[in-house]
Amino acid sequence: MNGERIHGAKAMKWTAEKIRGLKKSGERFACLTAYDAGTARLADEAGIPLILVGDSLGMTVLGYETTLPVTMDQMIHHTAAAARGVRSALLVGDMPFMSFQVSVEQGLTNAGRFLKEGGADAVKIEGGAFRSELIAALVANGIPVLGHVGLTPQSIREMGGYRVQGKTPEAIERLIADARAIAAAGAFALVVECVPPQVGKAITQAVEIPTIGIGAGPNCDGQILVWHDCLGLTPAERLPKFARRFADLEGEIRRALGAYQEAVRSGAFPDITHCYGNLT
Ligand code: KIV
Repeated sequence: MNGERIHGAKAMKWTAEKIRGLKKSGERFACLTAYDAGTARLADEAGIPLILVGDSLGMTVLGYETTLPVTMDQMIHHTAAAARGVRSALLVGDMPFMSFQVSVEQGLTNAGRFLKEGGADAVKIEGGAFRSELIAALVANGIPVLGHVGLTPQSIREMGGYRVQGKTPEAIERLIADARAIAAAGAFALVVECVPPQVGKAITQAVEIPTIGIGAGPNCDGQILVWHDCLGLTPAERLPKFARRFADLEGEIRRALGAYQEAVRSGAFPDITHCYGNLT
C-alpha cells in the first residue's frame, strides 16, 4: 500500500486495485452503503474506503419490501447523488435485478451507465460461477467488478426467502467454487452474505481477492453494513441478526422532532437570534 493507511490523514483516491491490495496488507476494513450525497460525504470523510450504493435502497429509502422492484433509473439517480458526496472512497453501484441477467450485452450496457451517468468507479453483481463470462467481459472493457455470493437477495424467490447459505458440505463446496470462479474472472473483491463464520473463513482462505462479509463472521478481510442498520435507523424488528447499531439515530431524530414541535408551540422558537431585524 506504499505506506498509505486506510485511516491515515493523507487524502487519496481508493481504486479497485488498492482495495484488491488490502488482501496482502492484511488490514481489515469497514465498508458501508450510502444512497445520497450527504450520507456518502459523511462515510467518505470518515475514511470508509468502499461505499456501495446498494439496491437495498429499495427497502431503506424507497419503501419496497424487497430489492426486486428497483430499476436502473432509480439506481443511477441515487448513485449520481452519492458520487457528488464522495472524494476518496471507491464508489460501487449495485446492478439491480434484471439489469444484467438477460445477456452479457445487457450487463455491459447497464454497467456502463453506472460509470458514465452515475459517476461510479465500479459495479457489484450478484451470483456465482455462472456470472464469470459477464464479469470477465466487464473487466476487459474497463469496468471493475465487486462479486456477491452467499445470500443474494435478488434470488430470494428461488432461495425461498432470506436464508443462511452454505449449511451443507455440498453447498459449501459450491460457494467456494463460485468464489474462485469470480476471482478468476477478474473481480477485485467479493461480498459474502449470510453464511456461517467457518464458511466465511473458508471462502476468505480460498481466494486471493478480499472478501467483504455481511453476516459471514469475523474472518472476512472486510465487513460491510447497510447505513440504516449501522446507525440505528432500521426498526428493531427488522434489524438482521448480523447487524450492530453503532448509534441510535432514530431515537435522536424522534427526540429532536418532539423538541422542535414543543419549541414552536411554546413560542420559544424562533427567537430574536433567528430573525432579520428587531422583534416589534
Ligand atoms: O444492496 C446492498 O446494500 C448490498 C449489501 C448488503 C452488500 O448488497
